[in-house]
Amino acid sequence: MTNLPDTMFAVVQTHDGYSGTATGPTLETASDWLAEAEVPLPSPGPGQVLIQLRTASVNPSDIHFIKGEYGQPRVKGTAAGFEGCGDVVATGAGAEALQGQRVAFVAAGAGAWAEYVVAQAQMCIPLRPDISDEDGAAQIVNPLTAMAMVDIARDVGDAFVVSAATSQLGKLMCSLGRDLGLKPIALVRRADTVDTLISLGAAEVLVTGDPDAARQFADISANLKPRVFLDAVADQLSEQIFCAMPNGARWVCYGKLSSELPKLTQMGQLIFMSKQIEGFWLTRWMMETPPADQLRVVAEVQARFADGRWKTDISERLTLRDVVQGLADALKKSDGKVIITP
Ligand SMILES: NC(=O)c1ccc[n+]([C@@H]2O[C@H](COP(=O)([O-])OP(=O)(O)OC[C@H]3O[C@@H](n4cnc5c(N)ncnc54)[C@H](OP(=O)(O)O)[C@@H]3O)[C@@H](O)[C@H]2O)c1
Repeated sequence: MTNLPDTMFAVVQTHDGYSGTATGPTLETASDWLAEAEVPLPSPGPGQVLIQLRTASVNPSDIHFIKGEYGQPRVKGTAAGFEGCGDVVATGAGAEALQGQRVAFVAAGAGAWAEYVVAQAQMCIPLRPDISDEDGAAQIVNPLTAMAMVDIARDVGDAFVVSAATSQLGKLMCSLGRDLGLKPIALVRRADTVDTLISLGAAEVLVTGDPDAARQFADISANLKPRVFLDAVADQLSEQIFCAMPNGARWVCYGKLSSELPKLTQMGQLIFMSKQIEGFWLTRWMMETPPADQLRVVAEVQARFADGRWKTDISERLTLRDVVQGLADALKKSDGKVIITP
């Protein structure tokens, strides 16, 4: 490595392992989980690259993770943050082809909220010049998940249900569904977002706080017959929605935005109506999907961002040095991603 500093500024985790709680991706005070630190510059091993950060995004998975509530353990003293965009400034053996490229990346063991990040070369996607750094910061986790999950829905019918539809991922799935000639049924918390969801492509929008929401959904379900429920909330209303779906329906749980644990109330639906409850995790999709198929999906994702069919809505921008102080407040704003810059 030449012309690189020996140390870097990073927002690091202050806990190890798992917490055993399930409180959801909300923060009262970021300093309960994070601290500022000057740490040694990491060094890329075989198959890895060192990236100088341009932008990182804050996803719900980052918050689950720093609180010890995600599918992998924390390591105290290492940087937080999974996803971002930056320039490859050094490479390990076998990753030389990425030297000098601007890439979107996912840092497998976290580490994106730092001036420099090590990532596996396989988890880096060279970016087209017409993709902005801010779109580049949210180019992998949500867009690939949207493509993979709408594919699940497309295989089994015209209509599908999306909860937390105002999330970045929900919006991507509604517009993709519309573009593919499908009928997304969107569930939202805020009534003032209904028109936005319709304009993005939802065929129907239900406000979950409406006392009549479950009955309204039953009517929509009888009419549109959605077979797949792509659910990031997973609360009791989700269970009611699943119960009101037709024979063979699949409840695909991919997030846990609500801290409420739903109860199953109608086991006969699994037995007699061939319904299924399952999970989706992008990490598993990436391990199981052949590289050629992943490349096709990545090319389509970049094309959609480049021509404006998809965009990253941004609610707040923080520098790395603002994160510990400002992240909790920044996350209280709806309708967009918090973007971190060095
Ligand atoms: N399994 C996977 O591989 C995978 C991959 C990517 C993302 N995800 C999951 O997908 C979900 C969305 O991610 P994102 O990055 O698109 O999120 P995001 O843009 O940060 O948006 C989250 C939105 O969800 C809504 N929300 C929050 N808490 C809620 C609750 N208790 N009930 C209903 N709605 C709630 C809020 O919108 P309002 O204020 O408008 O209600 C919030 O703005 C997250 O759960 C994330 O973990 C999973």
